[in-house]
Amino acid sequence: ANQNRLAGKTILVTAGGTREAIDPVRFIGNRSSGKMGLAVVQAALAAGAKVIAVIGQVQVEFPNHPNLMVKKVTTTAEMLATTAASFEKADALVMAAAVADFRPAVVADQKIKKQISQDELTISLVKNPDILATLGAKKNHQIVMGFAAETNDLLQNAQVKLAKKHADYIVANDVSQVGSGFGVATDQVTILQPNRAPEKWPLLSKQEVGERLINILAKRWQQSK
Ligand code: C5P
Repeated sequence: ANQNRLAGKTILVTAGGTREAIDPVRFIGNRSSGKMGLAVVQAALAAGAKVIAVIGQVQVEFPNHPNLMVKKVTTTAEMLATTAASFEKADALVMAAAVADFRPAVVADQKIKKQISQDELTISLVKNPDILATLGAKKNHQIVMGFAAETNDLLQNAQVKLAKKHADYIVANDVSQVGSGFGVATDQVTILQPNRAPEKWPLLSKQEVGERLINILAKRWQQSK
């Protein structure tokens, strides 16, 4: 039956945005709502999978469901540690989170005060680990799916990410297009895979994109039986 297609599978999904502290009251964040990740979680649950959701900052509610475990994190480092801890038991990783690429080199332990006559403030940033690339390089049986939000040269950039992050799929999203990307309910995406022509999907609700992504996983496991 359709609602048992993914019985016995564990899907690890990251969602939302990470936050990097500057000082006790400030942070660097992003506009990720967690909608896409939630859509994947819901589709996976509907197909009978067990789901582990590692979520940063989100503006949506994740359901209470016996097959769903939600782990809340703040920073990229925490998201990496928490996601890595569940990677071995996962059959697929869907990396829908918007991860901060850089974090402040030092987190001030007191609130940073503005100095009188100060017109500029520089905060040094250091690179964060790439969670998808780190886990992609370690995958054995897992199917690894990443996202790429681009404003230009969408397919070229996404193709590079596919290889660099050892992903089996990249869901490329032109976020400069109206109705696609952060915060909105719809997405127009193109699916990239190694050695396959890109597959452009129509403008769809995020819910439907989530369902189709779960379908890709289900079909792949069906074929390898
Ligand atoms: O390189 P870029 O941020 O465009 O790649 C997007 C994909 O990589 C997303 O799936 C995102 O969750 C993941 N990512 C990550 N760790 C980072 C940056 C991005 O896992 N530090």
